[in-house]
Amino acid sequence: MTDQKRLTTTAGAPMPTNEHSLTAGNRGPVLMQDYQLIEKLAHQNRERIPERVVHAKGWGAKGKLTITNDISMYSRAKIFSEVGKTTEVLSRWSTVAGELGAADAERDVRGFSFKFYTEEGNWDMVGNNTPVFFVRDPYKFPDFIRTQKRHPVTNLRSPEAMFDFWAAQPESVHQVTILMSDRGIPTNPMHMNGYGSHTFSTWNAAGERFWVKFHFKVQQGHKHYTNQEAETLIGKTRESYQEDLYNAIDEGNFPKWKMMIQVMPEEEAATLPFNPFDVTKVWSHKDYPLIEVGMVEMNENPENYFMYVENAAYSPSNVVPGIGFSPDKMLQGRIFSYADAHRYRLGTHYEQLPANQAKNADVNFYHKDGSMRFFPPKTGHVDAYYEPNQYAESAKADPSVAEPPLKIDGDAARYDPADPDADYVQPRALYAEVMNDEERGRLHSNMASAMGPCSDSVKERWYAVLRKVHPDYEAGVRKAVEDDVNAISVTDDTPVEV
Ligand code: NDP
Ligand code: HEM
Repeated sequence: MTDQKRLTTTAGAPMPTNEHSLTAGNRGPVLMQDYQLIEKLAHQNRERIPERVVHAKGWGAKGKLTITNDISMYSRAKIFSEVGKTTEVLSRWSTVAGELGAADAERDVRGFSFKFYTEEGNWDMVGNNTPVFFVRDPYKFPDFIRTQKRHPVTNLRSPEAMFDFWAAQPESVHQVTILMSDRGIPTNPMHMNGYGSHTFSTWNAAGERFWVKFHFKVQQGHKHYTNQEAETLIGKTRESYQEDLYNAIDEGNFPKWKMMIQVMPEEEAATLPFNPFDVTKVWSHKDYPLIEVGMVEMNENPENYFMYVENAAYSPSNVVPGIGFSPDKMLQGRIFSYADAHRYRLGTHYEQLPANQAKNADVNFYHKDGSMRFFPPKTGHVDAYYEPNQYAESAKADPSVAEPPLKIDGDAARYDPADPDADYVQPRALYAEVMNDEERGRLHSNMASAMGPCSDSVKERWYAVLRKVHPDYEAGVRKAVEDDVNAISVTDDTPVEV
């Protein structure tokens, strides 16, 4: 006998064949006692789990963060404790609206998630390739996502729904401008920035709190496809990101991002003319300069896609001592939503799957049974399945990791934004000051293609939003829509050769 591995059942019994059903006679029907055939077919029927309700299509890699600058004056998190320190990372990038089989090179915002396996637990940075978001209140998130998904009658994506919603939602115009700009179709995840987008908090060893925004600056340079380039590419392959990313890492070309932060002292938030907890706004780089933290390098393809990328469960609720939340309403909504999604999509003990295990931390908790209870109790003592208890070895809470108290005051109410005109200021800066003429031209034409199928009333409502950003923006998109319509009617009039 060689050292050839023997095929077995899942219960470990050696299998005589993996090809021939047990039949009554050479041509006869299958016997029910061929349990391994039933097992094989039954497993196939259970190979799929629900796809993510958003961000279903994704690509991932393993890597590390190396700290290059001391920021311990802002955060006591151990991940930042010394220059040169490295921490393992699992990344997942994604498109927002596409389903699992969607083409990679579609125009969409890209998800940008890092799971840092720190020695004080997993810290998940679940961001996007854009610094802002479409809406600022979690009440609006499910409605927004419905406009991105299939129409209930046609079962098609609906530009009418998208622009109808955005036109009633001027806070969206900042993010929609980025989406329709060159950055709306990165050539692959290795050519885009990442942003935590929300304002988070950090606190240092002295208990001082800071408000912080996280940035991940791409080191390979920004690269994007035009609509036409993307259409041609999708005609050839729908999996261009997976191919590019997997092959780059396989060939040793490891993509990198410089991690940077913007920092605001806690008290300053109350003195500002704008709301620093509004995820539809950035903090100006001039007022809050970027501070270097470290370098993220992705250098390993996961040994199994499903096990590490599909099973990855990212959640903004996963923070570690020294990193915390902020009053941002959207962030507060997300703190509930993700773990709830994971319990539904993956199961009760999803944090114990290899992708999600806090493998560099000493993990102890009292959650007891339920589906996926495939690991021994982690309470420190076999009889300690409740707390408080008499057992010295059992896990106890550590008050030294408590966040400094946060003063919150104000009347409980449902507030409108103080200054709706503020929604136009930052998209105006992006349009008029950051973009050049060529970029503005492509923005006009990309937006015209996207809104071309909309009704005139939706178009007019959206033009009114663009006008408030900048009159040239409205004029440029209006002209591009009209040019497109004329181009279509010229084509329609062209005699068809038979
Ligand atoms: P800066 O001139 O300091 O920064 C402009 C930023 O815009 C750069 O970070 C650049 O990214 C980014 N950028 C360039 N083209 C695009 C695009 N098509 N879509 C999105 N971002 C792009 O200006 P301010 O900080 O004063 O901000 C001005 C405007 O820039 C903001 O209103 C906002 O719209 C946009 N912006 C600001 C960011 C911030 O955190 N302050 C972050 C991203 C955008 P890079 O350096 O990587 O090329
Ligand atoms: C995925 C909810 C806003 C980035 C998801 C998922 C849900 C969700 C339920 C699927 C999780 C899963 O099944 O694994 C929400 C809600 C939001 C919100 C309720 C607002 C209230 C945002 C914002 C960002 C963002 C503002 C970025 C700044 C992502 C990313 C993923 C994701 C990157 C994919 C994570 C992965 O790769 O697995 N979101 N989201 N979301 N969301 Fe959000």
